[in-house]
Amino acid sequence: MPVERQLEIETEEYYENPKPFNGNFEGADILSVEQFTQREEVERIFAVADEMRRCVENRISRSDLDGQSVALLFYQPSSRTYSSFHAATQRLGASYETPMHGMTAYSSAVKGESLADTIRTFHATTAADIIVLRHPDDNSSEIAAHFSPVPVINAGSGRKEHPTQAVLDTVTVNSELGRIDGLVVTATGDLRNGRTIKSFAKLLAIAGEGVTFNFISPEVLKMPESVIKQLEINGATVNVGSNGDLDYAIEQSDVLYVTRIQDEWFVQQALEDIVEALGDKAHDIPPEKLLEIAKPVGQSEYSKAVTGYVIDEERMKIAKQHMIVVHPLPRVTEISPRIDKDPRSAYFRQMRYGLYSRMALLSMINGTAQ
Ligand code: NCD
Repeated sequence: MPVERQLEIETEEYYENPKPFNGNFEGADILSVEQFTQREEVERIFAVADEMRRCVENRISRSDLDGQSVALLFYQPSSRTYSSFHAATQRLGASYETPMHGMTAYSSAVKGESLADTIRTFHATTAADIIVLRHPDDNSSEIAAHFSPVPVINAGSGRKEHPTQAVLDTVTVNSELGRIDGLVVTATGDLRNGRTIKSFAKLLAIAGEGVTFNFISPEVLKMPESVIKQLEINGATVNVGSNGDLDYAIEQSDVLYVTRIQDEWFVQQALEDIVEALGDKAHDIPPEKLLEIAKPVGQSEYSKAVTGYVIDEERMKIAKQHMIVVHPLPRVTEISPRIDKDPRSAYFRQMRYGLYSRMALLSMINGTAQ
């Protein structure tokens, strides 16, 4: 069991560079996939996740978290991430859990409490040994880790990171295809707002050799340049296209990573674009007025974006025989239910790898699995 750490002196830059794992997960925060530096770290997770699979399939109880306490603090809706962390905690024999699914409705965040104070609160009141956090702000998990004496696991932060989803996606690819090298990955949908695809692509580029990414999306939902640069620095090849290029990309793909068009971010995204286009002039316009302009723009961009990217039986005909379709889920209209029974559709199996992966990460942080 990791010992509680001393908090560092407060600095403004605490969220800039999460500490690399350097081969050791015990007591570590899991904030960003950028903490991974070695392929071996990911391979160790594969091995531990496989051991967790064996335990779950054979109903073998584990006591990794015996006597320990885990707090789940969720500020955004979640089905898979929340339930799999909850189940993983129980299956590892945690003695106590504080399951807070409705932080924005039921916690003192409603009264304006800061995240820093909320983290200190839940550590104090529950004596948590591990805190799992989902939050709409990009730097939330780094802020939480800064104010938490115990490890923090990022269960999704804003539009930036979802490292445990990236781990489970990578476990899925390795388990289903038997390799993570030389893969052609086509990602479609909302590459601008989706945090899962950014984290997955970065992790695969770090862990895998010779990976090619085809990022296919409407112009307004393009993968940010900063992420593309990072992938290239890590040796990946990146192609960018729109729906006209989708069929050609699918034909080549080993992994088709489909994402939901995230309507909840569209108004904010339109607002960012308008502010950027206006430059200094934006300061002269009241924020309510900017929001008023952004709303219809966001709604119309959303309607345009959802068409042309649906994965259906026709598109699966041109895909390879040995490939997989994955999706972090929830899906809305981007995957036709008609392909659910296609053996290449791995998105429902993918969720179970989430349970094994989260059990693996919790036990590795705890130091009971190496
Ligand atoms: C995603 C998320 O919350 O980032 N879901 C998940 O964790 N499996 C993706 C989404 O909401 O579209």
